[in-house]
Amino acid sequence: MLGNIFGGKKDTGPAGTEAYKPVYAWLATDMHNHILPGIDDGSPDVETSLEFLRRYQALGFRQVVASPHIRYPQFENNNEKIKEAFDRLENAPGRSEIPVQLVYSAEYYLDERFLELLNNDRLMPFGNNYVLTELSLGHRSFLDMDQLATKMFEKGLRPILAHPERYLYWSKSPDVFHKLKSKGWLLQVNLMSLLGYYGKPEQKTANYLFDEDLVDFIGTDAHRLKHFDVIAAIDDKILQKLKSKYLINNLINI
Ligand SMILES: [Fe+2]
Repeated sequence: MLGNIFGGKKDTGPAGTEAYKPVYAWLATDMHNHILPGIDDGSPDVETSLEFLRRYQALGFRQVVASPHIRYPQFENNNEKIKEAFDRLENAPGRSEIPVQLVYSAEYYLDERFLELLNNDRLMPFGNNYVLTELSLGHRSFLDMDQLATKMFEKGLRPILAHPERYLYWSKSPDVFHKLKSKGWLLQVNLMSLLGYYGKPEQKTANYLFDEDLVDFIGTDAHRLKHFDVIAAIDDKILQKLKSKYLINNLINI
């Protein structure tokens, strides 16, 4: 619809924004996605990033925190490179016609490089000093998560762990999630996990985390346009369940 009005990209994917309803207006903010063009495994170019923004708007989102991967050696991003990609998108023709606020932060892979950035005050938090972090999907980290949280608190930062439901090595030990929470970690579940996109185990753990009231944020973790079609197709029962939960997404100003 907007693509036609503003002469934007016609390729709106299988569903297209015409089929979208603003079902996430209550949530307001997406703080986990790969919208910035050409710097990680998300949007490849500015045109696609603009289409991400149009889809956010159609779904009712008003604030977006871009969170490109910082993970060596796959994604050798740094503050300057991320700002450069952000500026390219913000200054793109047609951007000003999409009323969705965008800021940038990152999704930090937890390793020695992260510790270096933390120690050197080089992290880029969003909102009230939130820092989004991730672990390997395939193997357990050697890092001490308790110490790490304490170190971040000392710097005035609030640690968020992205998609805990996707670390399948934890799926049989739900105590881990309670322990992380008790040490101050905030947990961010992916919308697509709840919708069964990654698989049954992820969906089961996502439901567990919600049922136990362990979830602080939800995120799209959108890498591609088709991911918006997945989240647009949320059914009313899941939506009502989400709306009944206390989430930080709709409380923050980015
Ligand atoms: Fe991500």
